Amino acid sequence: MTSPFAERMPLYTDRIQQRLDEILPNADTAPERLHAAMRYAVLNGGKRIRPLLAYASSECLQVPPESVDAAATAIELMHAFSLVHDDLPAMDDDDLRRGKPTLHRKFDEATAILAADALQPLAFTAISGDETLSAAQAVDLTRLLAAACGSLGMTGGQSIDLLSEGQPLSMTELEHMYRLKTGALIHASVMSAAYVANGITPEQKRCLEHFAQSLGLAFQIRDDILDVEGETQVIGKPAGSDERRNKATFPALFGMDAALARCNELLRQGLDSLKRLECDHEPLQWLAHYMVDRAK
Ligand code: IPE
Ligand code: IPE
Ligand code: MG
Ligand code: MG
Ligand code: MG
Repeated sequence: MTSPFAERMPLYTDRIQQRLDEILPNADTAPERLHAAMRYAVLNGGKRIRPLLAYASSECLQVPPESVDAAATAIELMHAFSLVHDDLPAMDDDDLRRGKPTLHRKFDEATAILAADALQPLAFTAISGDETLSAAQAVDLTRLLAAACGSLGMTGGQSIDLLSEGQPLSMTELEHMYRLKTGALIHASVMSAAYVANGITPEQKRCLEHFAQSLGLAFQIRDDILDVEGETQVIGKPAGSDERRNKATFPALFGMDAALARCNELLRQGLDSLKRLECDHEPLQWLAHYMVDRAK
């Protein structure tokens, strides 16, 4: 399916690449090894789904892209940090990410831990140092990001994920974990534009919240499905790595058919919420399909 937003996507992925490149210290700035590792973690591929969600949401709400640049940059930095930790031997113990050696494999474990540590404050700097935001907007976005990444968001979800290996979770428990570990940052991406939009109604906010929650869940279920059926060359890491680690995933606990059905149901629910947004929602609509139909 092609769409006007799909045609603009390369502009946004270039835009975020440039912002990330600018905010990361150069690899020849001391400590060089740390900065080289941070740059590898962030600039080494990635679909940039979360920044794209922020820009698509800004289009729908008629917010200029300048107003979501800071949030998009900050969220992608946080996402990169989460992946570096996620791959560590103490967590998912993966050797490949995006088809290339994981950060601790390319460098070493201590450097990977420190690079991820340093990406977090850099994310907050992206927001506090942005001159297009008012002070109040910067505080609101800081709160949004902190909540999405903390113990009641992504980090909490990652903790539940590790404690759930080999456990027979109910669907409610599994989806709670997904809402935290993956949904929280997806939610922040979609809502960042709402935080800087003028005149957004409570009903529009509710529709966007519901859209983001549905898509966050669907995105993680799709990630699990790809882990089962994807080829290494396509998904960038060996298929079946979740099974090897005895991870609690939707396909492992409820079967592939149920995973596919739930993914499609969540997509439909998300799209229904968009229809009630009362604005041109094509950018988010297209991106929702892209997130669920993706092959990598
Ligand atoms: C992978 O996220 C981890 C999940 C939360 C599912 P992405 O699939 O967005 O990873 P990149 O950034 O495109 O590699
Ligand atoms: C990752 O979930 C969630 C994060 C918050 C990083 P996964 O562990 O399934 O992500 P991949 O499959 O390694 O990218
Ligand atoms: Mg994981
Ligand atoms: Mg993982
Ligand atoms: Mg996965």
